[in-house]
Amino acid sequence: MSTPSFLLSVLLLAATATAATAGSPTALPGCQGSCGGVDIPYPFGIGTSCFRKDFEISCINNGSAGDVPVLATADNRAVQVLNLSVAPWPEARVLLPVAWQCFSPNGTSTGSFSGEVDFNPRSVYRISDTQNELFVLGCNTFIYNKAGNGEGGRYRYAYYTGCVAYSNDSGDPRDGACAGIGCCHVDIPPGLTDNSMSMRYDNDSWPHVNQEYCPCDYAFIVEKGSYTFRASDLTSMPRDQTMPLVLDWAIRDNGSVPMSCEQAARSPTGGGGYACVSDHSECVNSANGGYVCNCTKGYEGNPYVRGGCTSKLSALH
Ligand SMILES: *[C@@H]1O[C@H](CO)[C@@H](O)[C@H](O)[C@H]1NC(C)=O
Ligand SMILES: *[C@@H]1O[C@H](CO)[C@@H](O)[C@H](O)[C@H]1NC(C)=O
Ligand SMILES: *[C@@H]1O[C@H](CO)[C@@H](O)[C@H](O)[C@H]1NC(C)=O
Ligand SMILES: *[C@@H]1O[C@H](CO)[C@@H](O)[C@H](O)[C@H]1NC(C)=O
Ligand SMILES: *[C@@H]1O[C@H](CO)[C@@H](O)[C@H](O)[C@H]1NC(C)=O
Ligand SMILES: *[C@@H]1O[C@H](CO)[C@@H](O)[C@H](O)[C@H]1NC(C)=O
Ligand SMILES: *[C@@H]1O[C@H](CO)[C@@H](O)[C@H](O)[C@H]1NC(C)=O
Repeated sequence: MSTPSFLLSVLLLAATATAATAGSPTALPGCQGSCGGVDIPYPFGIGTSCFRKDFEISCINNGSAGDVPVLATADNRAVQVLNLSVAPWPEARVLLPVAWQCFSPNGTSTGSFSGEVDFNPRSVYRISDTQNELFVLGCNTFIYNKAGNGEGGRYRYAYYTGCVAYSNDSGDPRDGACAGIGCCHVDIPPGLTDNSMSMRYDNDSWPHVNQEYCPCDYAFIVEKGSYTFRASDLTSMPRDQTMPLVLDWAIRDNGSVPMSCEQAARSPTGGGGYACVSDHSECVNSANGGYVCNCTKGYEGNPYVRGGCTSKLSALH
């Protein structure tokens, strides 16, 4: 009895040491651990059998820019990944495009883009409400984001958030000042799942006639602290501008009815299987449905891979 269990702990120690030497965050054995300088920790992964369902990353060669990781689950446009973390907090930092609409001097629209990117068809991501904020740039402009389609009471959606930017004169907007004059910003509610902006334009309430000094409106969600308003952005922000923002993610195997920790532990083969597989890992229910994994107190690393949580003490020497 004692010999096998002794052997088992030796094996476990060996497995732990292997995972630790690979460094954490960790990819699955035999899988590409990084792309373009960005670590790709499991459940994210590149290539067959290297990722959990819904967490595939593609490593694309973008010419002189070199290798770039993108969300393989994005349907209609490449969403570049800047950073992925699994624990102690699950986050993905990505670049999403800015929404815009532009006008000719007589007030007619010359084009627009809502910013929509279907980066989230599997609903594993939420736009972090604590780490991002919404900006609107313009001179007679009301733009908002909405979420919770079909959950609304008074209207179709459950949440609406946005603001009004106004300026009568090209000289009024000031660099660094975003309090309504050419620029406004607001906190966002939890639960936002996409980047699509609703842009109010009609020639009666939000006319853009004779607005050569301010020909375009812009709106975007961005990580707090990473954008500072510049008055020149009103005339010269490129239409293909992207902004960095932070997404929360969770294991939401069961789509619109994601499993909680309790349900996932009870059905180990359901969905993609119970995700918290490391020793010294624990399951935490996610505020928005589904669950995430963490290393228990005193341990750190990747709870989604076997042997991924290692003692903080062993890291000290
Ligand atoms: C690839 O490079 C092109 C040109 O530099 C750029 O426009 C595009 O956004 C890049 N794509 C990604 C995913 O970074
Ligand atoms: C990625 O995120 C981790 C954890 O938040 C941080 O320590 C690291 O500096 C970030 N790396 C980059 C390139 O942003
Ligand atoms: C994971 O545990 C650390 C403390 O060990 C805690 O600070 C962190 O909030 C936990 N993460 C989650 C998602 O609960
Ligand atoms: C407004 O201006 C655009 C281009 O400057 C022109 O194509 C369009 O016909 C004009 N519309 C009206 C109603 O004058
Ligand atoms: C918008 O309204 C203004 C007057 O309020 C008018 O002069 C202009 O022609 C209108 N533009 C369009 C495109 O209808
Ligand atoms: C608005 O701008 C116009 C044109 O620059 C100017 O004539 C007018 O005085 C301005 N109105 C106010 C209230 O500043
Ligand atoms: C997904 O949810 C449905 C409805 O709650 C449930 O019947 C089904 O068993 C769940 N699937 C898994 C794999 O747990």
